[in-house]
Amino acid sequence: MTRIITFLSGKGGVGKTTISSNVAEALHEAGKKVIIIDANITTPNLSLHYGLDEKGPSLHDVLNGKVKINDVIYKTHTGLMVIPGGLSFNNLKAKIKKTLSKSLIDLIGKFDYIIIDASAGLGRETEMAIKASDEMVIVTNPELPAVTDALKAKKMAEEYRVSLLGVVLNKATGLDFDLDSENISEFLELPLLGIVPHDINVRRSIKDRIPVVASYPDSKSSKAIKAIVNRIAGEELFIPDKPDKGFFKWFKTILGLK
Ligand SMILES: Nc1ncnc2c1ncn2[C@@H]1O[C@H](COP(=O)(O)OP(=O)(O)O)[C@@H](O)[C@H]1O
Ligand SMILES: [Mg+2]
Repeated sequence: MTRIITFLSGKGGVGKTTISSNVAEALHEAGKKVIIIDANITTPNLSLHYGLDEKGPSLHDVLNGKVKINDVIYKTHTGLMVIPGGLSFNNLKAKIKKTLSKSLIDLIGKFDYIIIDASAGLGRETEMAIKASDEMVIVTNPELPAVTDALKAKKMAEEYRVSLLGVVLNKATGLDFDLDSENISEFLELPLLGIVPHDINVRRSIKDRIPVVASYPDSKSSKAIKAIVNRIAGEELFIPDKPDKGFFKWFKTILGLK
Protein backbone atom coordinates (compact mmCIF):
# COMPACT_ATOMS: atom_id res chain seq x y z
CA MET A 1 0.00 0.00 0.00
CA THR A 2 1.27 3.46 -0.87
CA ARG A 3 0.99 6.02 1.89
CA ILE A 4 0.71 9.63 0.72
CA ILE A 5 1.80 11.97 3.50
CA THR A 6 1.89 15.76 3.25
CA PHE A 7 3.96 17.97 5.53
CA LEU A 8 2.13 21.20 6.24
CA SER A 9 2.74 24.20 8.46
CA GLY A 10 0.85 27.37 7.64
CA LYS A 11 3.81 29.58 8.47
CA GLY A 12 6.87 29.52 6.21
CA GLY A 13 10.39 28.88 7.42
CA VAL A 14 9.44 26.51 10.24
CA GLY A 15 11.17 23.55 8.61
CA LYS A 16 8.65 21.72 6.38
CA THR A 17 11.23 21.11 3.67
CA THR A 18 13.89 20.16 6.21
CA ILE A 19 11.64 17.71 8.05
CA SER A 20 9.93 16.21 4.99
CA SER A 21 13.19 15.77 3.07
CA ASN A 22 14.85 14.12 6.05
CA VAL A 23 11.88 11.88 6.78
CA ALA A 24 11.96 10.80 3.12
CA GLU A 25 15.73 10.26 3.24
CA ALA A 26 15.51 8.20 6.44
CA LEU A 27 12.68 6.03 5.09
CA HIS A 28 14.77 5.47 1.96
CA GLU A 29 17.79 4.61 4.07
CA ALA A 30 15.63 2.07 5.94
CA GLY A 31 14.94 0.32 2.64
CA LYS A 32 11.49 1.72 1.86
CA LYS A 33 10.52 2.78 -1.64
CA VAL A 34 10.12 6.53 -1.30
CA ILE A 35 9.47 9.51 -3.52
CA ILE A 36 9.32 13.10 -2.34
CA ILE A 37 7.40 15.77 -4.21
CA ASP A 38 7.87 19.52 -3.97
CA ALA A 39 4.32 20.82 -4.14
CA ASN A 40 5.68 24.32 -3.85
CA ILE A 41 5.35 25.46 -7.42
CA THR A 42 5.86 29.20 -7.18
CA THR A 43 8.76 29.11 -4.71
CA PRO A 44 10.21 25.62 -4.86
CA ASN A 45 13.34 24.80 -2.89
CA LEU A 46 13.36 21.08 -2.29
CA SER A 47 15.88 20.58 -5.11
CA LEU A 48 18.28 22.84 -3.27
CA HIS A 49 18.20 20.56 -0.25
CA TYR A 50 19.30 17.67 -2.48
CA GLY A 51 21.59 19.56 -4.81
CA LEU A 52 19.52 18.68 -7.87
CA ASP A 53 19.83 20.46 -11.16
CA GLU A 54 16.75 22.63 -11.56
CA LYS A 55 16.76 23.07 -15.30
CA GLY A 56 14.76 20.01 -16.27
CA PRO A 57 10.97 19.63 -16.39
CA SER A 58 9.15 19.74 -13.07
CA LEU A 59 5.81 19.07 -11.43
CA HIS A 60 4.55 22.30 -12.98
CA ASP A 61 4.95 20.79 -16.45
CA VAL A 62 3.03 17.71 -15.32
CA LEU A 63 0.14 19.83 -14.04
CA ASN A 64 0.17 21.74 -17.32
CA GLY A 65 -0.19 18.47 -19.16
CA LYS A 66 3.13 18.92 -20.97
CA VAL A 67 4.88 15.84 -19.64
CA LYS A 68 4.07 12.68 -17.72
CA ILE A 69 4.88 12.33 -14.02
CA ASN A 70 7.45 9.64 -14.84
CA ASP A 71 9.38 12.25 -16.87
CA VAL A 72 10.00 14.45 -13.84
CA ILE A 73 11.38 11.86 -11.44
CA TYR A 74 14.99 12.62 -10.53
CA LYS A 75 17.35 10.61 -8.39
CA THR A 76 19.58 12.11 -5.70
CA HIS A 77 23.03 10.65 -5.23
CA THR A 78 21.76 8.64 -2.25
CA GLY A 79 19.21 7.09 -4.60
CA LEU A 80 16.10 8.83 -3.27
CA MET A 81 13.50 9.75 -5.91
CA VAL A 82 12.49 13.40 -6.09
CA ILE A 83 9.95 15.38 -8.10
CA PRO A 84 10.94 19.06 -8.11
CA GLY A 85 8.31 21.76 -8.01
CA GLY A 86 10.14 24.21 -10.23
CA LEU A 87 8.26 26.76 -12.15
CA SER A 88 9.08 27.26 -15.77
CA PHE A 89 8.65 30.97 -16.33
CA ASN A 90 7.93 30.74 -20.01
CA ASN A 91 5.06 28.53 -18.97
CA LEU A 92 3.77 30.71 -16.19
CA LYS A 93 0.46 31.61 -17.75
CA ALA A 94 -0.31 28.12 -18.96
CA LYS A 95 -3.45 26.79 -17.38
CA ILE A 96 -3.20 24.00 -14.86
CA LYS A 97 -4.85 21.08 -16.62
CA LYS A 98 -4.35 18.28 -14.17
CA THR A 99 -4.77 17.99 -10.41
CA LEU A 100 -1.93 16.71 -8.29
CA SER A 101 -4.06 13.76 -7.12
CA LYS A 102 -4.68 12.69 -10.73
CA SER A 103 -1.00 13.15 -11.54
CA LEU A 104 -0.03 10.85 -8.69
CA ILE A 105 -2.10 7.92 -9.90
CA ASP A 106 0.80 6.50 -11.93
CA LEU A 107 2.93 6.38 -8.78
CA ILE A 108 0.45 4.50 -6.61
CA GLY A 109 1.59 0.97 -5.95
CA LYS A 110 5.14 1.72 -7.04
CA PHE A 111 6.19 3.33 -3.77
CA ASP A 112 5.70 2.63 -0.09
CA TYR A 113 5.69 6.34 0.66
CA ILE A 114 4.88 9.43 -1.36
CA ILE A 115 6.02 12.38 0.75
CA ILE A 116 4.69 15.81 -0.20
CA ASP A 117 6.43 18.99 0.89
CA ALA A 118 3.65 21.60 0.89
CA SER A 119 4.08 25.31 0.26
CA ALA A 120 3.83 27.98 2.94
CA GLY A 121 0.52 29.69 3.51
CA LEU A 122 -2.92 28.29 3.01
CA GLY A 123 -3.50 29.15 -0.62
CA ARG A 124 -4.23 27.07 -3.69
CA GLU A 125 -0.90 25.26 -3.79
CA THR A 126 -1.38 24.09 -0.23
CA GLU A 127 -4.93 23.04 -0.97
CA MET A 128 -3.66 21.05 -3.95
CA ALA A 129 -1.21 19.18 -1.70
CA ILE A 130 -3.82 18.46 0.95
CA LYS A 131 -6.31 17.18 -1.60
CA ALA A 132 -3.72 14.81 -3.03
CA SER A 133 -2.81 13.21 0.29
CA ASP A 134 -4.34 10.76 2.71
CA GLU A 135 -2.28 11.66 5.73
CA MET A 136 -0.82 14.83 7.12
CA VAL A 137 1.94 15.88 9.47
CA ILE A 138 1.92 19.41 10.86
CA VAL A 139 5.32 21.04 11.36
CA THR A 140 5.70 23.96 13.70
CA ASN A 141 8.16 25.78 15.95
CA PRO A 142 7.73 26.31 19.68
CA GLU A 143 6.59 29.91 19.26
CA LEU A 144 3.19 31.50 19.09
CA PRO A 145 3.05 32.79 15.48
CA ALA A 146 4.05 29.36 14.13
CA VAL A 147 1.62 27.50 16.40
CA THR A 148 -1.26 29.82 15.50
CA ASP A 149 -0.67 29.21 11.80
CA ALA A 150 -0.30 25.49 12.47
CA LEU A 151 -3.82 25.51 13.92
CA LYS A 152 -5.14 27.18 10.75
CA ALA A 153 -3.33 24.59 8.64
CA LYS A 154 -4.83 21.81 10.72
CA LYS A 155 -8.34 23.25 10.31
CA MET A 156 -7.80 23.43 6.57
CA ALA A 157 -6.68 19.80 6.49
CA GLU A 158 -9.73 18.76 8.47
CA GLU A 159 -11.99 20.18 5.77
CA TYR A 160 -10.62 17.56 3.42
CA ARG A 161 -10.92 14.69 5.89
CA VAL A 162 -7.26 13.75 5.77
CA SER A 163 -5.90 11.75 8.63
CA LEU A 164 -3.73 13.92 10.87
CA LEU A 165 -0.79 11.91 12.18
CA GLY A 166 0.44 14.58 14.58
CA VAL A 167 2.72 17.52 15.05
CA VAL A 168 6.50 17.82 14.74
CA LEU A 169 8.05 20.52 16.86
CA ASN A 170 11.10 21.77 15.00
CA LYS A 171 13.90 24.15 16.03
CA ALA A 172 13.32 23.58 19.73
CA THR A 173 15.94 25.32 21.85
CA GLY A 174 14.99 24.02 25.26
CA LEU A 175 15.27 27.61 26.51
CA ASP A 176 12.58 29.22 28.63
CA PHE A 177 11.06 31.20 25.78
CA ASP A 178 10.10 28.02 23.90
CA LEU A 179 6.42 27.16 24.25
CA ASP A 180 5.91 23.92 26.12
CA SER A 181 5.51 20.87 23.85
CA GLU A 182 2.61 19.45 25.85
CA ASN A 183 0.77 22.76 25.65
CA ILE A 184 1.30 22.90 21.90
CA SER A 185 0.03 19.36 21.45
CA GLU A 186 -3.03 20.17 23.59
CA PHE A 187 -3.68 23.46 21.82
CA LEU A 188 -3.52 21.81 18.40
CA GLU A 189 -5.31 18.69 19.65
CA LEU A 190 -2.68 16.61 17.90
CA PRO A 191 -0.32 13.93 19.19
CA LEU A 192 3.30 15.01 19.42
CA LEU A 193 5.30 13.01 16.87
CA GLY A 194 8.58 14.38 18.15
CA ILE A 195 10.76 17.35 18.95
CA VAL A 196 13.64 18.25 16.64
CA PRO A 197 16.20 20.51 18.29
CA HIS A 198 17.56 23.66 16.77
CA ASP A 199 20.76 22.16 15.43
CA ILE A 200 23.53 23.89 13.55
CA ASN A 201 24.15 20.63 11.62
CA VAL A 202 20.88 21.24 9.78
CA ARG A 203 22.37 24.46 8.41
CA ARG A 204 25.57 22.61 7.53
CA SER A 205 23.64 19.88 5.75
CA ILE A 206 21.75 22.42 3.66
CA LYS A 207 25.04 23.98 2.63
CA ASP A 208 26.32 20.49 1.74
CA ARG A 209 23.02 19.75 -0.01
CA ILE A 210 22.73 16.40 1.72
CA PRO A 211 19.90 15.86 4.23
CA VAL A 212 21.17 15.91 7.82
CA VAL A 213 20.16 12.28 8.49
CA ALA A 214 22.62 11.28 5.75
CA SER A 215 25.35 13.88 6.29
CA TYR A 216 25.38 14.05 10.11
CA PRO A 217 23.66 10.80 11.16
CA ASP A 218 24.74 11.08 14.79
CA SER A 219 23.58 14.66 15.27
CA LYS A 220 20.76 15.37 17.69
CA SER A 221 18.45 16.47 14.90
CA SER A 222 19.08 13.24 12.94
CA LYS A 223 18.30 11.09 15.94
CA ALA A 224 15.12 13.04 16.62
CA ILE A 225 14.04 12.72 12.99
CA LYS A 226 14.67 8.97 12.99
CA ALA A 227 12.52 8.59 16.11
CA ILE A 228 9.77 10.49 14.28
CA VAL A 229 10.19 8.21 11.28
CA ASN A 230 9.71 5.15 13.52
CA ARG A 231 6.50 6.70 14.79
CA ILE A 232 5.20 7.54 11.32
CA ALA A 233 6.14 4.11 9.95
CA GLY A 234 4.70 2.35 13.00
CA GLU A 235 7.77 0.11 13.14
CA GLU A 236 11.24 0.30 14.59
CA LEU A 237 13.20 1.12 11.45
CA PHE A 238 15.88 2.78 13.56
CA ILE A 239 17.03 1.58 16.95
CA PRO A 240 16.22 4.35 19.40
CA ASP A 241 18.87 5.69 21.75
CA LYS A 242 18.51 4.40 25.26
CA PRO A 243 16.82 7.35 26.99
CA ASP A 244 18.79 6.97 30.21
CA LYS A 245 22.20 6.69 28.58
CA GLY A 246 23.17 10.29 29.34
CA PHE A 247 21.94 10.05 32.90
CA PHE A 248 23.81 6.85 33.71
CA LYS A 249 26.98 8.12 32.09
CA TRP A 250 26.75 11.21 34.25
CA PHE A 251 25.95 9.08 37.32
CA LYS A 252 28.98 6.86 36.69
CA THR A 253 31.11 9.97 36.32
CA ILE A 254 30.08 11.37 39.68
CA LEU A 255 30.63 7.99 41.29
CA GLY A 256 34.13 8.06 39.85
CA LEU A 257 33.49 4.92 37.79
CA LYS A 258 34.19 6.54 34.46
N1 LIG B 1 16.17 21.85 13.31
C1 LIG B 1 16.73 22.90 12.74
N2 LIG B 1 17.85 23.49 13.30
C2 LIG B 1 18.42 24.57 12.73
N3 LIG B 1 17.98 25.17 11.61
C3 LIG B 1 16.89 24.64 11.00
C4 LIG B 1 16.21 23.49 11.52
N4 LIG B 1 15.19 23.19 10.70
C5 LIG B 1 15.21 24.11 9.70
N5 LIG B 1 16.22 24.98 9.88
C6 LIG B 1 16.58 26.14 9.03
O1 LIG B 1 15.41 26.92 8.85
C7 LIG B 1 15.31 27.39 7.53
C8 LIG B 1 13.92 27.12 7.00
O2 LIG B 1 13.74 25.73 6.88
P1 LIG B 1 12.84 25.10 5.72
O3 LIG B 1 12.88 23.64 5.91
O4 LIG B 1 13.23 25.65 4.40
O5 LIG B 1 11.41 25.69 6.14
P2 LIG B 1 10.02 25.69 5.32
O6 LIG B 1 10.09 24.62 4.28
O7 LIG B 1 8.96 25.43 6.35
O8 LIG B 1 9.88 27.04 4.74
C9 LIG B 1 16.39 26.70 6.74
O9 LIG B 1 17.31 27.65 6.34
C10 LIG B 1 17.02 25.69 7.65
O10 LIG B 1 18.41 25.80 7.60
MG1 LIG C 1 9.87 24.74 2.19
